[in-house]
Amino acid sequence: METPTNVTIKGILGLLMANVDGEKKKRVISVGMGDPTAFSCFTTTSVARDAVRDALDSQKFNGYSPTVGLPQTRRAISEYLSINLPYKLSPDDVYITAGCTQAIEVAISILARPNANILVPKPGFPIYELCAAFRNVEIRHVDLLPENGWEVDLDAVDALADHNTVAIVIINPGNPCGNVYSFQHLKKIAEMAKKHKIVVIADEVYGHLAFGSNPFVPMGVFGSMVPVLTLGSLSKRWIVPGWRLGWFVTTDPNAIFKNAKTVERLKKYFDICGGPATFIQAAVPRILEETSDAFFTKTLNILKHTSDLCVNKINTIPCLTCPTKPQGSMAVMVKLNVSLLTDIKDDIDFCFKLAKEESVILLPGLTVGLKNWVRITFAAEPSALEEALDRVKSFYQRHSYEEKFQFGPS
Ligand SMILES: *Cc1c(COP(=O)(O)O)cnc(C)c1O
Ligand SMILES: *[C@@H]1O[C@H](CO)[C@@H](O)[C@H](O)[C@H]1NC(C)=O
Repeated sequence: METPTNVTIKGILGLLMANVDGEKKKRVISVGMGDPTAFSCFTTTSVARDAVRDALDSQKFNGYSPTVGLPQTRRAISEYLSINLPYKLSPDDVYITAGCTQAIEVAISILARPNANILVPKPGFPIYELCAAFRNVEIRHVDLLPENGWEVDLDAVDALADHNTVAIVIINPGNPCGNVYSFQHLKKIAEMAKKHKIVVIADEVYGHLAFGSNPFVPMGVFGSMVPVLTLGSLSKRWIVPGWRLGWFVTTDPNAIFKNAKTVERLKKYFDICGGPATFIQAAVPRILEETSDAFFTKTLNILKHTSDLCVNKINTIPCLTCPTKPQGSMAVMVKLNVSLLTDIKDDIDFCFKLAKEESVILLPGLTVGLKNWVRITFAAEPSALEEALDRVKSFYQRHSYEEKFQFGPS
């Protein structure tokens, strides 16, 4: 099959799904997409459901909200984020968006100008590239270093940034790599951004989903040094990606970025945005204030368990290696050694044949910028994940040279 290039994650997952062989009658297990709601062990808290139900039943939130978001929602998010910062955000710093996706769109649109470029991580999250293409913003890729816990290659940042560079994107905790950056590394990123006078776009959609040795540190901690645009949503931590409740926050206490003119432009931009439904916004203060630690701990315990399970299984499959154990988020990047396989050309070929023969869907690394890697989402039911990886192992055994030499061609 022709190697598809420039396809979106959803596009390629659709093609992979269509390649599953229905005759095999195996249940399809997809650990390619990042939507944990497909698995029953990942359900949101009753606090969130009750808050939304009560907001709806009150009949007070059937109208339009202000385009920047309901005041009580902005206030609640500013307080929620301020807990982990050395200064207090104002509700005016917070703009309500339709998920983190729209926050990305706002960030890129507001920074776009002729000849502008932004630095994005590789591997990364393809929505950044998609948005930049629509706004004629040039993308420059900064490698993340697999052997260094997927830290940002700061020398590359130094070499790539020029007077047209407007921002650097940092995804922490990371998708697709499962990285959680240390305070020290984030500080170095902030210093580098300050040196080049660029804004940091901090994608913290996985904020607090850290279960390894590094605690989650928000980039906004360095907001006094360098302006930070903090992007987030309820989608991942509260496991409600369909509610489309996100935020775009100017974490910039020294007002380096947010002068009167940019604030005016932001407000105008939000007049054309159309954020999430008003009753979902109205539920946010209760969701943020009343969600119990027990709910968060339960999610983290499952993710810790499934990520360990994932790494341990991968270590038993010779053609796959996991250079760094994931410490957060819901996904891990795994290196594929095609030279150990008889008839597999690359990651795309691997994923298509795996879908056909084993009804298992993994995401080819090429879609997130790394050829001959695959992304595995470990936010899955443990039994499903285990079965998926057992099938990957039998796929390896059928396609490996070693097995052929041992047992002869079948
Ligand atoms: C899921 C995800 C988003 C999008 O979040 P939504 O709230 O679902 O729009 C943005 N960035 C990254 C890195 C993600 O994984
Ligand atoms: C792939 O496996 C072969 C055989 O074990 C090994 O020699 C080679 O170094 C591996 N390649 C990579 C990129 O790991």
